[in-house]
Amino acid sequence: VEANAKMEQTLFRKFCDIAYERAGIRLQKGKEALVGARVARRQRALRIPTARKYLEFLESDAAGDEVIHFLDAISTNFTSFLREPEHFDRLTALVKRAVDSGKKRLRFWSAASSSGEEPYTMAITIAEAIGRADVDWRILATDISTQILERARAARYAQHTVDPLGKALRRRYFIRHKGAGGEDTFEVIPELRKRLVFKRINLAKPPFPMPGPLDAVFCRNVMIYFDRPVRQGLVGQIERLLAPGAELYIGHAETLTGIDHHLRTLGPSIYCKLGIAR
Ligand SMILES: C[S@@+](CC[C@H](N)C(=O)[O-])C[C@H]1O[C@@H](n2cnc3c(N)ncnc32)[C@H](O)[C@@H]1O
Repeated sequence: VEANAKMEQTLFRKFCDIAYERAGIRLQKGKEALVGARVARRQRALRIPTARKYLEFLESDAAGDEVIHFLDAISTNFTSFLREPEHFDRLTALVKRAVDSGKKRLRFWSAASSSGEEPYTMAITIAEAIGRADVDWRILATDISTQILERARAARYAQHTVDPLGKALRRRYFIRHKGAGGEDTFEVIPELRKRLVFKRINLAKPPFPMPGPLDAVFCRNVMIYFDRPVRQGLVGQIERLLAPGAELYIGHAETLTGIDHHLRTLGPSIYCKLGIAR
């Protein structure tokens, strides 16, 4: 397998086209090394000697199986527990308002859930806010990457990963497993896990197979990969799925500027669907 260190432009552009057409992922110029490394990973797995041969294989893959692996390899999955904490403060307030007003059913969506840190932080936040109230609540957690969804379903994290939550929440919501010599791992408790459903959804290909209305949507740090038309389609779908009074959280580096929508801006990266809450 060649190193793909300086993948040539024409080849690079072809991989970019596939990433865009199939997942709406816009790979910028300068990502040649990243794409080269991720393609090399697939080449090794398949024992294909050159990137060009791999491209041919990808293009001839009628069933679309390799495209899923390719998209897995190039989508960047960085995430963490309690990332961008203000969103979870907003979520706490939203859930408390709903419980106080007597709502018995709440639905949430983590739209690019990666390895699960985001939806499990949502679950912990919601459980804390609901307390002993009798509420039927669920989180749908989706991602395009089947591999990362497997990790999310496993719900097991290294100690340093769960540190941002603090000791009290860690004790309440995780089972500790002694690491053999190394770091301990922490497994999310079943009472919380049963609230989540993980599913593969491609955000670049609306409409999405799910019923609304949703009470809050986290769609964070994924729109950066999309261009305006793809973002527009995605935001339109989210807006349709939100209940009146429901909130949308996007990544701090992201913006809805240039997108047509009817959401009210509540703060940077926080939006609300207008209308009277049920
Ligand atoms: C940087 S992570 C963000 C994770 C989490 N939302 C957060 O903010 O910490 C981006 C995730 O988006 C997923 N992704 C990329 N393109 C996607 C698409 N077209 N549809 C659904 N998910 C996608 C990637 O697989 C990755 O797990």
